Amino acid sequence: MKHKLILTASAAAAVLIGSVLCAQAGAQNMNAVTGTIQPTQLKHPISDTMYGVFFEDINFAADGGLYAELIRNRSFEFPDALHGWEPDGDFEVRKGEANDVPFPKNPHYVRLTGTRHRDQWTALDNTGFRGLAFERGKRYNASFYARTANNTARQNIVVSLVDESGTVVAKQNVNVNSPAWKEYKATLTPSASADRGKFRLLYDGHSGSVDVEQISLFPADTFNGHANGLRKDLAQTIADLKPGIFRFPGGCIVEGTTLEQRYNWKDSVGPVGNRPLNGNRWNNTFVDHLTPDYFQSYGLGFYEFFVFCEEIGAEPLPVVNVGLACQYQNDERDLSAQVALDKLEPYIQDALDLIEFANGGTDTAWGKLRAEMGHTAPFNMKYIGIGNEQWGKLYTDRLPLFLEKIRAKYPEIQVVGSSGPSPDGNHFTYLWPKMKEFKVDLVDEHYYKDPNWFLNNVNRYDNYDRSGPKVFAGEYASHDNPTNSLYAALSEAAFMTGLEKNADVVRMTSYAPLLANYRAWQWAHDLIWFNNKQVVRTPSYYVQYLYSNNKGTHTLDIASLANKPQGVYLSAVADQTDNSVIVKAINVGTMPVSVKLKIQDAPANAAVKASGISGNRRDKNTETAPDTIKLETSGLTLTDGNLDVSLKPGSFTVYRVSLK
Ligand code: AHR
Repeated sequence: MKHKLILTASAAAAVLIGSVLCAQAGAQNMNAVTGTIQPTQLKHPISDTMYGVFFEDINFAADGGLYAELIRNRSFEFPDALHGWEPDGDFEVRKGEANDVPFPKNPHYVRLTGTRHRDQWTALDNTGFRGLAFERGKRYNASFYARTANNTARQNIVVSLVDESGTVVAKQNVNVNSPAWKEYKATLTPSASADRGKFRLLYDGHSGSVDVEQISLFPADTFNGHANGLRKDLAQTIADLKPGIFRFPGGCIVEGTTLEQRYNWKDSVGPVGNRPLNGNRWNNTFVDHLTPDYFQSYGLGFYEFFVFCEEIGAEPLPVVNVGLACQYQNDERDLSAQVALDKLEPYIQDALDLIEFANGGTDTAWGKLRAEMGHTAPFNMKYIGIGNEQWGKLYTDRLPLFLEKIRAKYPEIQVVGSSGPSPDGNHFTYLWPKMKEFKVDLVDEHYYKDPNWFLNNVNRYDNYDRSGPKVFAGEYASHDNPTNSLYAALSEAAFMTGLEKNADVVRMTSYAPLLANYRAWQWAHDLIWFNNKQVVRTPSYYVQYLYSNNKGTHTLDIASLANKPQGVYLSAVADQTDNSVIVKAINVGTMPVSVKLKIQDAPANAAVKASGISGNRRDKNTETAPDTIKLETSGLTLTDGNLDVSLKPGSFTVYRVSLK
């Protein structure tokens, strides 16, 4: 249920353009919050990296999510080689020798054999990631590697899309015409849409055999049109956040449940077909959300991450393993989950090689690979995370060994260290002084807490040491019931006034996790939810969006603040790029609140753009009601140089005052 706006007489007379998000309050309101903003008294510069995103392959965020590949288990490397496939007819899964397969790191393929009966076929159907969705009239690029087998010269394959009723809605013949492995391609344009459709590869020979491998299907319309690209709607939703940094690939995924399962960035670059499958560390973590069929194809790998960062204007912040498997899941006495200090060299080399891959010249080994993959120019990477949310002596024994080598070879790279998994407690108090001693550039803090914690910690950074490393609030989310409620988002917005105010010490922030597939999630709360066809922005998404798109260039004080009731949070920044003052206002309470802020020397009736969200504090967005909380904008003007507005109950509003 939406709240009614409380309009006073003067508000009714105010100039109100567009949808009514906010009301101009009346001067007769005796209890208005009052204060003064002096736009020329700039306080702290705000870092370009202030609001970012943190991507981790959790909740099917990569395969079955941002990575646009529609075929699951495309190279038959899952432990159950036919997982995701429904075979019919005469077939055999084979494992080839390295010199007899197109991709030695993915050696399995399927041999399809003719049935010799005109009315019988040998076919492989793929059911995608919890359904394979396609849209009528859109183009889909199918491809596969194949060779004729058993001395046959030419074989016919039919690739098709099949809807839920079993009707073939797109098909194309492909002639396999060589006994050597080759890539074959087809374009499919379905005449009907499906949510739980299938991709079918059918061998229609009546004698002989054909081998197939690396069977792939992408929408032609990926983000920026890349082959092996990203799902356009999801990528655009992330791009709309205008993130200043992009941390990847995790999270605990960097650590792995075991060291063997850690994210090894080198496995994620080079030819897509030859990136070896890895288990996903989130597959069996939560008993209520078991996803034993969760694997990482690495089709979305480090090269693709760097390209995406470049295209959306975010600084890449890759994280590498520090020689420790997930500390949550391994006892610290278990030596198999930690790399001995004298065996750490390959891990350190991985970090150095990563910097070379991103920034090295094409005359370096890894820079050459980057160029071969399509990007001759360096990515100009500036930051690296060493370890995820590691803790204890296991971490502080290892981190300096990385730092020494990175500082020596790449002194310009800024290193992010960990303060552990929580914002206080033993790990935190042990690690922060250590991070100062090691002189890391930024310290990553993580907090998953309830809304009250966020509201009570708005001033968290006011007294932080200004001389040491800067803060990266790298993973945070307000956890409420229901999940991803408006109230959770409002508590984040309130907390973020404190991040903003302390922009001299807080240089980077990112909500976590970023993405969740409704049909395959492990962890809630998440910023963006999706199914195979739809993207749902949470109230927290709009909070991040509003902060990032109204970041400003410098913080401003609000002086002489009076009458501010509990539950109201205010902050102000200047934006020198368009000569504006931006006020952020949060009302987590249940009553409207009048606010009257004097903007010194502003034109008496300066134009103001208001953007925000509001509603019932328990509201959330869902697949069936994705717009319960939505972004609303409206225009108004200052009144005699005052921002004179009424904050709706349960609201977050950004007022952008043009001083031009
Ligand atoms: O964001 C989910 C997980 O939370 C991350 O992988 C980890 O760093 C933290 O524990």
